[in-house]
Amino acid sequence: MPTKSDNIIEIKNLKKKYGDFEAVKWITFDVKKWEIFGFLGPNGAGKSTTIKILTTMIDKTSWNVKVDWNDLSNQHAVRNTFWIVFQESSLDDELTGWENMYFHAMLYWVKNNQINSEIEHLMKFVELREFKDKVVKQYSWWMKRRLEVARWLLHHPKILFLDEPTVWLDPQSRIHIWDYLKKLNEEQWLTIFITTHYMDEVEKVADRIAIIDHGEIQAIWTIDELKKQTKKKTLDDVFLELTWRDIREELVSESEWIRARVQAKRRG
Ligand SMILES: Nc1ncnc2c1ncn2[C@@H]1O[C@H](COP(=O)(O)OP(=O)(O)OP(=O)(O)O)[C@@H](O)[C@H]1O
Ligand SMILES: [Mg+2]
Repeated sequence: MPTKSDNIIEIKNLKKKYGDFEAVKWITFDVKKWEIFGFLGPNGAGKSTTIKILTTMIDKTSWNVKVDWNDLSNQHAVRNTFWIVFQESSLDDELTGWENMYFHAMLYWVKNNQINSEIEHLMKFVELREFKDKVVKQYSWWMKRRLEVARWLLHHPKILFLDEPTVWLDPQSRIHIWDYLKKLNEEQWLTIFITTHYMDEVEKVADRIAIIDHGEIQAIWTIDELKKQTKKKTLDDVFLELTWRDIREELVSESEWIRARVQAKRRG
């Protein structure tokens, strides 16, 4: 495996205002190639805003950011470097695994003469080759997630952005996802930029983490270094030490809203 030394994302003085409100205040940090980078912070800290800017989904207020050496204003080049994973699945249940892959490849301009071999290779990687001709509604939950992973890889992304990918999952499913992200990182040399509220999980896989609160970076280190600096034993305690604040009245945050929606769905 190559060494994790060069930067793939460089952020200098990134700032984002919504009206008068500063959601992200002059943040500066780098993400290294092939690392799993945990971006942690309480609700409303500015995590999603940062990801949305890095993936060119929303405009910045001011910044100096490079993604794989490309300035953010070069949207086309930046978009070619990453894939972003949203929480809702977009698989078509009525199509087979193969067809889901094929239509996605067509939509995103995978070269015609490479489509079949690419799909074959990726479905093998996610251990679904023998199920490729089954319709997706027959897939288990975990098979569907793996098919989605194969679709991300059709893009040959260098960076995978995941914004709370496990927020609605039970503990067993979350373990599967984290193991798989580790495998993707090691075998496909993907840089993974991930936000989550589950400290124990990110602790097992992340090379480094940044903690953001009130739109400012509070710390950025390896997990061991963070524990050493704060003299805490668990990442949970480190997190509370660096971000502790009174519970206060505020608008329902994005992740609270997602959790409430999922719970409502489960209740039927
Ligand atoms: N479109 C918007 N207009 C106005 N304010 C916004 C907008 N989007 C986000 N904010 C505010 O910016 C702040 C940062 O929001 P952001 O979604 O980046 O937080 P987050 O760290 O992702 O939180 P969560 O853990 O709840 O997902 C919050 O106070 C939020 O209310
Ligand atoms: Mg968010």
